[in-house]
Formats: sequence, C-alpha cells, structure tokens
Amino acid sequence: MGMPPRVLVVDRSASVRDTVAELLGEAASEVVWTAREGAGAQLRAGITASAPFDVVLLEADPPPTPASIRELVTLGGGVRVVLAATGPDGAATAVRCGAADVVAKPFNAAELVFRLGRAAAATERADKRRPRKSDVLIGTGPWIKQLYDRIAMVAATDVTVAIFGESGTGKELVARTIHNSSPRHDAPFVVVNCAAIPEPLLEDELFGHVRGAFTDASRDREGLLAAAHTGTLFLDEIGEMPLPLQAKILRVLQSQEFRRIGDDQDRQVDVRIVTATNRDLDALVAAGNFRQDLYYRINVFPLHLPPLRERPEDITLLVNHFVQKYRARLGKPIDAISPAALARFAGYDFPGNVRELENKVHQAMVMCATTVIEDSDVALPKSRASTARPDVDRPFREVKQEMIDGFEKRYLTELLRVHHGNLAQAARAAGMDRKNLWALVERHGLDRAQFKKP
Ligand SMILES: Nc1ncnc2c1ncn2[C@@H]1O[C@H](COP(=O)(O)OP(=O)(O)OP(=O)(O)O)[C@@H](O)[C@H]1O
Ligand SMILES: [Mg+2]
Repeated sequence: MGMPPRVLVVDRSASVRDTVAELLGEAASEVVWTAREGAGAQLRAGITASAPFDVVLLEADPPPTPASIRELVTLGGGVRVVLAATGPDGAATAVRCGAADVVAKPFNAAELVFRLGRAAAATERADKRRPRKSDVLIGTGPWIKQLYDRIAMVAATDVTVAIFGESGTGKELVARTIHNSSPRHDAPFVVVNCAAIPEPLLEDELFGHVRGAFTDASRDREGLLAAAHTGTLFLDEIGEMPLPLQAKILRVLQSQEFRRIGDDQDRQVDVRIVTATNRDLDALVAAGNFRQDLYYRINVFPLHLPPLRERPEDITLLVNHFVQKYRARLGKPIDAISPAALARFAGYDFPGNVRELENKVHQAMVMCATTVIEDSDVALPKSRASTARPDVDRPFREVKQEMIDGFEKRYLTELLRVHHGNLAQAARAAGMDRKNLWALVERHGLDRAQFKKP
C-alpha cells in the first residue's frame, strides 16, 4: 500500500547507502545516508519538509542505547528503527535498545526488502492509528444498519468472521471495528496480509520458529499468531494463502493449536480470527486452490460489503466525511464543495470504491486554492449522460438520442467484457438477435478483440 518507503541509512560508512539502495531497488522511493551525529537533524528535516522517513536502518555497532533510539523515534515522528547487525547477537541488541527489528549483515536483498518494508508499514500504521480510532463506517440505507447490527451481534463472541468485498470497500475498517467493539479491544489487533508476504517467509511470520530450525535461525522467534494472543488476528487476502499453510491455519481454527517451525511441541493460542478477501472463494475451492474444509470453517459468519456503485446514495455523505477528515490534516480552511464538483463525484462509478473516492477527495483538497472545492479541482471524468442533469436548452430529440447512445455504448461494453467478446454468447445473454447486436457493436465502433481473454 502507498508509496515505497523513504529510508534513512545511519552508518559510519557512506558507501553502505549505495549497497542498500541497490538491493532495495524499487522497494524504496529514496535512500539517504547520514553518520550517527546527523541522524536527528535528518529526521527532523524530513518532518519539516513533509517528507518524513518511513524507516531508519541503523548500524548496530557500537550498540545504540535505548535513549538514543527513543530520540530518533521521536524526532522522526514515530519512525521505526531497524538495526543492521553483523554478529549473532543482533536480535538481542535490538530487543534491548527498543529497535523494531534486525537485519543481518552482509545484507540479503529479500530480507532487506521485507523487513524494512514491514517496519515502514508499521510506522505508517502507527501514524494512522489515532484518527482510525474515531473512524466510523459511513453509509445510508438498509445495508449499513444491517452491517452494524451484524457487527454488534458477532463482536461480543469469538466466532470467526469472513469479510467479502471488492478492493477498497472497507474490509479492514470493518475488521478493526469488530475488534474495537469486542471484549478483546485492549489486546492486539494483528494484521497479516497473506498476499504481501513472500511465501517462504509467511509461515515463519505467522508461526515463528525455534533456534536452529534453519541456518539463519540463531534464536527462537515468536510469530504473529503468538503476538495476537488474547486479541484478534486479521488474515487479509486469505484467498492468496498457500495450500500447506491453509492446513496449518485450519488446525488453529479447530483446536487453537499450532507448532513453530522446527519445534517438536504444539502450542496453544487464544485468538479470534477475522479473514477478508476480494476473491471468489467458491471458485478457488472449485479450482482446487483453496481447501474446502477451511472455507467451511472461516465462512461461518460472512459479511458482504457492497461496491460503491451499488449504493451511489452514500457518495455525498462520504465526500463530506473525508472533507472533514482531511481539513485539519491539510491545515486548509476548506468548508464546502460546489454542486458542480459534487456532481462529478456522484456521476462516477468508482471501480476502486471508497478508497478511490477518499483519494480523489484528498487530491481535490490539495488542489483547492479557496475555501470551496470547485469542479476544476476534481480529477474525475465528467458525469455520464445518464446521471447528469438533462440539458433543457437543446431539443428533446437530440438530448434523448445522446442519452440513448451513451447507454447503448456502456451496455455493449459491459456485455462484451463479461462474455470476452464472444458475440453469439453475448447475444444469447442479452436476448438479442446476433446480427442486430453485431450491427450495434459496429455502429459504436467497439473493437471486440479488445475483450478477448488474454
Ligand atoms: N463505509 C465507510 N465509511 C468510512 N470510510 C470508509 C468506509 N469504507 C471504507 N472506508 C475508508 O476507505 C479506505 C479503504 O478501506 P479499507 O482499507 O478498509 O478497504 P479494503 O476493503 O480493505 O481495501 P483493499 O481490498 O484495497 O485492501 C480506508 O481509508 C477506510 O477508512
Ligand atoms: Mg484491505
């Protein structure tokens, strides 16, 4: 999520910067070097310039003191510090001085990318935590009331919850809301994105390992499952979880038991599991990519989040909500949105759902030079003919034809998309004569080849 992190490398040798930059490649947006004496000033400068560092990579030798790490964290606005350690004692040093993690020197690209990325994400999460607490689920209509009812009902229990919805429909927000309104709310809410962690590391991340389990395992390590003990484990993108791990998660769901890598004993853990996916799990099960028994276990209490295009009546409310949210953050006295600008939002169907709407509002507010968001601040296509206010200054026939053309084109595009450009199949589904359909497709200049399956 978001931009690749800005990394501050703190080391006595400036050449480390180039090594790190090369190994991180596109996984970092920028890598800056400083000697230890300059670290505080660099971090402060980042904050002042509104380009804060997302993670600090600090040499572990000589061992930093807890106070010096605290100072970096404070100056960097809560930034996570990761130690770069040569010997086997790196982890112990990291724990003792309050660093977030440790990477072994000489660096290994995969490990560096993963650990720095994760620490940067934690920095970002911590940053968002305070406003998140008061984040509410916005919506009108029966669906939101039903959602709140179901959340209230299930939050009090330890029942496993499965959240389904397209990207950006609020799955994580709902998972947090469940945790925050459950008896577990003072315990950790731990997020594991099964799609973001490379497969070989995912098992280690989730379950941890014992010392000696593999070559680099110089000491025991608790996994995220243990970290979520007494709290909630949110398994995001569960559809991407590799099959062998699915068996292990199934076991956790059945008996609350798991085994660390290399351990010869089972451990018990008390977690509430919430899962989310934007994939069609039925289809994954049918294709043999998702275990049916696991599907049954996680699907005991499903919550389906509707895409934004099915609830356009929520758009105005959400726009206002995000204007409030970002006004203080941007320090701009924006207090209104013009009807024309609002019509832009209302006329768009947001394939990226609420996340996309939130980004567009934020963007418009950044553009806005007055106290009112204008049409020209909004980077969205002009309203579609069907939802725009009809133009009554022109002849009825003409406006009507324009609307019909617009409708036909959108209908055909969607029809061809769904049927991968197969005309016979599309005609059958639409209840049209194949020749008429063909003529219409030609008239609108649609290229069927573009809808063919890759
Ligand atoms: N109903 C809502 N009311 C207020 N804010 C919402 C709502 N739904 C989503 N949001 C906001 O939209 C953004 C995206 O939501 P979230 O991250 O929960 O979606 P997601 O379904 O997990 O998306 P993805 O599949 O892309 O990970 C967040 O900032 C969230 O706070
Ligand atoms: Mg999500």
